Amino acid sequence: LFSAVELAPRDPILGLNEQFNADTNLNKVNLGVGVYYDDQGKLPLLECVLKAEQQMMSSPKPRGYLPIDGIAAYDRAVQNLVFGEASPAVKEGRVATVQTLGGTGGLKVGADFLKKINPSAKVLISDPSWENHRALFSQAGFPVETYPYYDAQLRGINFEGMLAALRGAPEGTVVVLHACCHNPTGYDITPAQWDEVVAACQSRKLVPFLDMAYQGFGHGIEEDGAVVGKFVASGLTFLVATSFSKSFSLYGERVGALSVLCQGKDEAARVLSQLKIAIRTNYSNPPIHGATVVTMVLTTPELRALWERELGEMRLRIKQMRLALVEKLKAAGVKQDMTFITEQIGMFSYSGLSKDQMVRLREEFGVYGTDSGRMCVAALNSRNIDYVCESIAKVL
Ligand code: LMR
Repeated sequence: LFSAVELAPRDPILGLNEQFNADTNLNKVNLGVGVYYDDQGKLPLLECVLKAEQQMMSSPKPRGYLPIDGIAAYDRAVQNLVFGEASPAVKEGRVATVQTLGGTGGLKVGADFLKKINPSAKVLISDPSWENHRALFSQAGFPVETYPYYDAQLRGINFEGMLAALRGAPEGTVVVLHACCHNPTGYDITPAQWDEVVAACQSRKLVPFLDMAYQGFGHGIEEDGAVVGKFVASGLTFLVATSFSKSFSLYGERVGALSVLCQGKDEAARVLSQLKIAIRTNYSNPPIHGATVVTMVLTTPELRALWERELGEMRLRIKQMRLALVEKLKAAGVKQDMTFITEQIGMFSYSGLSKDQMVRLREEFGVYGTDSGRMCVAALNSRNIDYVCESIAKVL
């Protein structure tokens, strides 16, 4: 049965970790996967997380099954965070939210649900997009196409192209949009451009699917989530996948959610019942630990304030690394203007380096980024940045 099974290629992002771990270069630096490391190069355990865990451990609880849609208080906390506590959509009970295995789990549960209710739809993702978007929606059975996004000449966004593609998309097309901190490019559209995107989705009756994996890493928690309010105000129904992997540094706990904004309470109840089928038939029900931590932090004022401070510190450090990167690349002898790095936002910089240059960086210098030229600025620190800049200067 298995003798003809082909060897699949490594995952373009997580596969790099395998290669990185096997690399014996003592100077190696992992700028591949989107993970935040502190200035010591360590994966942080946030203090708000530690405090919540200490509280949990002071009265340990048995671990029964969670409901299929997860911890009710967690789902509520996610709604309040994503839509805002005062959101009429939340108050009217129009949002169906389920706890999922990370943001990827939210996307997959949403994709399975959409495939069931609109099997002939196609999916549009940005060109380029997070590598897993295409794979995930294809695996769910959708044809996946792209809308223009990054313009290499412009070092920015081909907004007219994006808009034209949305305006030309057939009714019911699922449009995957990065709510903030576009992955991989680091270029976000402006609030005024979002208004045009929302209007295009409305007039073409598209189905927006917002991927919000980096809330808090751009301009701030509220600012980064503002686009959700625009979609709510438009009266559209849409989906939002949330991830707490980065914002809580809880990567391995797989804490995420899917929220579906519906037209009314009754519709939300029906949608929720279908989401539960997607979950039950994939992994039955979600795990307890990470979501309990996130619930405690989001709903306890002191822990919440601490989280917001710690997230703010991560955001600030990434911005400092962007500035340092521009300066040190220049100092290392790079002639071209690299100031675009500080115009990008979030964890990544789309460096403009070719696949060949990225392979050389990896093989000769042990500096790992994705083949697309994406580098995780959040993994730079005061110890590795000089080496990274010298290496980039050499391949350029
Ligand atoms: C990334 O883009 O590196 C992250 O979202 C991690 C992942 O799962 O790919």
